Amino acid sequence: MKGVFPVGKFRELRTPFYYYDTEVLRNTLATIRVEAAKYENYVVHYAVKANANPKVLTIIRESGMGADCVSGGEIRAAIKTGFPASKIVFAGVGKADWEINLGLDYGIFCFNVESVPELEVINELAAARGKVANVAFRINPNVGAHTHANITTGLAENKFGISMEDMDKVIELAGNLANVKFIGLHFHIGSQILDMGDFAALCNRVNELQNKLDSCGIRIEHINVGGGLGIDYAHPNRQSIPDFKGYFETYDNCLKLRSYQTLHFELGRSVVGQCGSLISKVLYVKQGTNKQFAILDAGMTDLIRPALYQAYHKIENITSDEKPETYDVVGPICESSDVFGKAVDLNKVKRGDLLAIRSAGAYGEIMASGYNCRELPQGYTSDDLF
Ligand code: LLP
Repeated sequence: MKGVFPVGKFRELRTPFYYYDTEVLRNTLATIRVEAAKYENYVVHYAVKANANPKVLTIIRESGMGADCVSGGEIRAAIKTGFPASKIVFAGVGKADWEINLGLDYGIFCFNVESVPELEVINELAAARGKVANVAFRINPNVGAHTHANITTGLAENKFGISMEDMDKVIELAGNLANVKFIGLHFHIGSQILDMGDFAALCNRVNELQNKLDSCGIRIEHINVGGGLGIDYAHPNRQSIPDFKGYFETYDNCLKLRSYQTLHFELGRSVVGQCGSLISKVLYVKQGTNKQFAILDAGMTDLIRPALYQAYHKIENITSDEKPETYDVVGPICESSDVFGKAVDLNKVKRGDLLAIRSAGAYGEIMASGYNCRELPQGYTSDDLF
């Protein structure tokens, strides 16, 4: 089954470009809202890093989500789009002073702190402004996730977070600092996770840590379990909305949330992944020695996931219904890793055909680069074109 695209409109636009189907996005957001609302204390933040296209961000903000930011630039983008500062969390192992000051000046909800030196700097900068910053500690739970090595983050060997062994010491230190207020714990084990057992393992670890803190009389108001829910890259049409029901149910079943606690989520890929496609034009069909290449005008500069993570994206020829043939689908960049897919079956391809590289709404446009002095791809929503 192929996706449905306004091919006539696409012909008027300069390729390559990202196309966002706002119906898919809005349906996804509505599902998240309905499923999360089944639980009293669940708060969902959108991980801006997945896609900060202003039109996409606006639709997400309208759905009422908070924002999870990892840089001053993302905080600015969130504020500009109208996310209230009181719903912004700010994570990242290397927050620069100006970024911390920006968060302080806007009065964001919480800094997710990843080290003792960072805690001390936040305290210092908050003191200079006569403010008290809410902080949560990102704890490295040493829980592996069944996903690509480059996108697992919760193992002890990763650079992220504070080790479990140091948790009590850091909480105690925060208690002695006048300009930070400890309000919660933060976790994130990785991305593109489809095995709910991985989230259950995180819950078990959080339960253990909570029991330990309870026994020391330490009260935590907020638990933030990060993001990570994966999408079905193989079947973007059949399963365009991820299993949010199962996801929230896993947390409800496995995490022993105290009645006074709020559980926060930071979802990125699962919110925007399936609504976006990279649309590209075929420049040439080239016969190799024992294969044929479809050479596109889009390259790894527009969508780097296949080159960087060997990620699979379904590719469709949206302008041909001819009998399928097999192609290596490649870009024009001077790098041999500039390949979108090898031995891909596509309806017979000719120069000028449009191909859709699917499930590219997350970590697509936002990771585009200007390598080879190329222009950044544009992003259009279906609202723009109709
Ligand atoms: N929270 C934290 C602390 C994170 O580090 C991330 C993603 C998220 C939330 C959102 O995770 P999501 O729900 O999107 O899985 N560029 C890679 C993915 C990098 C993910 C980085 N952190 C890719 O294209 O697969």
